[in-house]
Amino acid sequence: MTLSGSEARYRVIPLADGDGGVPEDAVVRDCLRQDPPRLPPWLGYDAVGSEYFEQITELPTYYLTRVERALLESHSAEMAEELACGRIAELGSGSAKKTRLLLENCLRLGPTTYLPIDVDQAMLRSSGAALCSELDELRVTGLWGRYEAALEWLRTHSAGPLAVLFLGSSFGNTTREERSVLLDGVARSLGPGGSFLVSADLDKDREVLETCYNDPAGYSAFADFRLNYLTQLNRRYGAEFDLDDFVPDARYNADTSTVEGRLVARTDLTVPVPGLGITLDIPRGRFLNVGYSVKFDEQQLAREAGEHGFRLRTRWLDPEFRYGIFLFRREEA
Ligand SMILES: C[S@@+](CC[C@H](N)C(=O)[O-])C[C@H]1O[C@@H](n2cnc3c(N)ncnc32)[C@H](O)[C@@H]1O
Repeated sequence: MTLSGSEARYRVIPLADGDGGVPEDAVVRDCLRQDPPRLPPWLGYDAVGSEYFEQITELPTYYLTRVERALLESHSAEMAEELACGRIAELGSGSAKKTRLLLENCLRLGPTTYLPIDVDQAMLRSSGAALCSELDELRVTGLWGRYEAALEWLRTHSAGPLAVLFLGSSFGNTTREERSVLLDGVARSLGPGGSFLVSADLDKDREVLETCYNDPAGYSAFADFRLNYLTQLNRRYGAEFDLDDFVPDARYNADTSTVEGRLVARTDLTVPVPGLGITLDIPRGRFLNVGYSVKFDEQQLAREAGEHGFRLRTRWLDPEFRYGIFLFRREEA
C-alpha cells in the first residue's frame, strides 16, 4: 500500500502502561481510596469524554479556551522564535486546534516534528491527520499513553533540541505532588537549555470561577463530562454506578485556590468496584472528586518551576489578567 503525502508524515507510537510510572489500575485504586475519593483526570478522556471536553470549550461561560486562543493568535510568532527548535512535544494535546497556530510559525522557521501526547488514541490520530493535511511539511509522531511514560520516551529517544508544550491550563489539573513529578519529568526530557511553554489560569473571584465551571442554563457539557468518569469505572472495572445517583457540580475552594469538579451523592451508596478489588461507601451529600483546576498566581508558578531548574524567560497575559502562557527555560547544569 502506498501512503499519501500527509499519511507518510504521520505515525503513532503506543506506550506501555506503567512505563516511567505507576500502572494504570494502581493509580485509579489509589485515587479512589483518597478522602474524598478522586478520579484521575486521564480516566475521563475516551472518545466520548474528549467530545464532551470539546463541548465545554464552546460554552459561552467557559472563557479559558477563547482567551488562550487569542493569546496564541497574537503571539505565536514570538513564541515560535523563543522555542526555536525542530521538535515540539505537547502534553495532553487533545484536538491540538490551538497548537496549530504555533506550529505554523515553527514551520516558517524550519523543519518541524510535532510530538503530541495523549491517552485518547482516537483524538491523537484524528488531530495528527488533520494537522498533516493542513500543514505541508509538518511531521507528526503521536505518543499514545500517559504523561510519565511519554516523558520517559522523550528522554530516552533524544534527537536534538526539544521543546515541551502544556496548553489548555491542564497543568492545573494536578495536585502539588503530581506537578512536582511532572516538572521533574519535563526537566529530564528537555535537558539544559530546553524550553517549556505552559499555560495557566490565574486566580480570581469565586463567582467568576463557579460560573465558568458549571453548565449555564440549557447546556449539559460539564455534567456529561463529569458523569462519564463513572461510565469509565463501570466499563473498565465492572463497577455498578447509577449515574442518576449523583449531582455533578463545581465549587471553588479559596483555601487552595482550586476549583473542584464534584459528583455529589443523592443518597447513601455502597458501590463495589470488582476490577480493582475495592468497595466504595459514599454517604449522602459526600462527593467524588472529578477534577482539580488550580488557579495560579505568577509567583507561585515561577517558584514551583524554579524548584526543578526552570527559569521564567517571558510570559504573555491577556489584557484582563485572567490567563497566562509562560515560557520557562531549563537552566544549564
Ligand atoms: C483539558 S484537555 C486539553 C486539550 C488541549 N490541550 C486543549 O487545550 O484544548 C486535556 C487533554 O489531556 C489528555 N490527558 C489528560 N491527562 C493525561 C495524562 N495523564 N496523560 C496523557 N494525556 C492526558 C486528555 O486526554 C485531554 O485530551
